Amino acid sequence: MIRDLVLKNRSYRRFCQEVSIDIVTLKELVDLARLSASGGNRQPLKYILSCDPQKNALIFEHLAWASYLKEWPGPSEGERPSAYIIVLGDTEIRRSIVCDQGIAAQSILLGATEKGLGGCIIGSIRKDRLRKALAISPRYEILLVLALGKPKEKVVIESVGTGGNIRYWRDSEGVHHVPKRHLDDIIIG
Ligand SMILES: Cc1cc2nc3c(=O)[nH]c(=O)nc-3n(C[C@H](O)[C@H](O)[C@H](O)COP(=O)(O)O)c2cc1C
Repeated sequence: MIRDLVLKNRSYRRFCQEVSIDIVTLKELVDLARLSASGGNRQPLKYILSCDPQKNALIFEHLAWASYLKEWPGPSEGERPSAYIIVLGDTEIRRSIVCDQGIAAQSILLGATEKGLGGCIIGSIRKDRLRKALAISPRYEILLVLALGKPKEKVVIESVGTGGNIRYWRDSEGVHHVPKRHLDDIIIG
């Protein structure tokens, strides 16, 4: 079961934008993050939720998509995420957060996958501009943005070839291919 869920939980970047996600669903997903591991159990993460088209548009402006797909500027109108969860670090609880945000992101995305949704972790964020657009207090460090929606693209996993190229790519049918290293190549002892 967990293997199936992990396999299904790919990074999706094109969505059925007309399928909305409600605030209750976003709260359920953040609750999975709340129940996840946190270094020293300090729980410094805070969240901003968005499922409103206008707020979504403000957030979208400041994200960078799929850097290996040089010709693709990101999802076009109609294929954009229906919702976002912005993951913040509360500097009054902890100054430097190394790992919590990744665990939270994975919990949220696995939960989204179970609900038939999908998403993408976005680390390439124009943080100063996003902070300004949403009037985010300097108290909160912007760590990640999770884009969410009903996936509209097919993503397949393949093996990294002998050349060692790990770059994802899109074929002429629009299928997104993600090379993963072999198990034998990552277990070194
Ligand atoms: C910390 C982190 C930051 C990421 N930032 C971005 C990003 O800014 N833009 C993007 O399109 N994808 C981003 N991704 C998604 C990765 O490109 C994706 O996980 C990778 O290509 C493997 O695909 P998979 O998630 O389907 O296994 C990020 C993933 C992680 C874990």
